[in-house]
Amino acid sequence: MSLLDLDSLSVGWPHASAVLTGLNLHVAPGARVGIVGPNGAGKSSLFHTIAGVLPPLAGTVRLRGEPLRPGAFLPEVALVFQQAEDQLFCPTLAEDVAFGARNLGLPAPEADARVARAIADCGLEGLENRPVHQLSGGEKRRACLAGALVMAPALLLLDEPSAALDLRNRRRLIALLAGMEQAMLIASHDLEMLLELCPRIIVIDRGRICADGPARAVLGDAALMAAHGQEVPHSLTPHPPSERHHAP
Ligand SMILES: Nc1ncnc2c1ncn2[C@@H]1O[C@H](COP(=O)(O)OP(=O)(O)OP(=O)(O)O)[C@@H](O)[C@H]1O
Ligand SMILES: [Mg+2]
Repeated sequence: MSLLDLDSLSVGWPHASAVLTGLNLHVAPGARVGIVGPNGAGKSSLFHTIAGVLPPLAGTVRLRGEPLRPGAFLPEVALVFQQAEDQLFCPTLAEDVAFGARNLGLPAPEADARVARAIADCGLEGLENRPVHQLSGGEKRRACLAGALVMAPALLLLDEPSAALDLRNRRRLIALLAGMEQAMLIASHDLEMLLELCPRIIVIDRGRICADGPARAVLGDAALMAAHGQEVPHSLTPHPPSERHHAP
């Protein structure tokens, strides 16, 4: 059975025209799907609707076959916001990460263990008592991810997870996500990261899904990528043999 089904889904904000219309998408448990599209295409809006924050304009979102009820608590779906400031609100990092675990009503020892593990997995040890507004940009991003991981969701919605990360932390993020079993949708302009993590890529543009297929086929299609304001990632671009600088 699918984990996530979008059927004829239209997405939009109140008092504005629809951002996305007629989306059909089916995601299997454990699948990793990359979402590519230009600024304003509707990636973040789609995540808000799947997470139950923004009600659909039309159509349905189903999780394990069950339609989402507007406003219902959805512990199986965790959204990591594009803007960390939209997500972090507790006085300290540890309290923020613990918030989701407490909401689940877990016994304190298990909640504490999950919080410690998420903080370690995201490389945030030593920052537990730091006020969230004093974290660096990349630390805030990783705090948001830690806050989602404590929920142990079946579906992670990651909105630009590598933005603002230095190379070491980007690499750590990729390794962490690659080792996780849960399904994830990853919206990103970091196409090399998507290529590493996601066997399947969806392109959204002008209100609809324009491509849905294997990552190398979609991201390697120069005409398709150009038509939607993208470029084929460097690692899929053929390179001429390097020039020789010394006599053979
Ligand atoms: N809270 C909001 N209220 C009204 N309109 C919004 C809101 N958030 C986003 N929009 C609009 O919805 C459209 C889609 O925005 P969205 O943030 O989903 O794009 P995106 O694909 O995530 O872009 P980016 O790559 O820049 O993150 C844009 O036209 C945007 O201006
Ligand atoms: Mg966005």
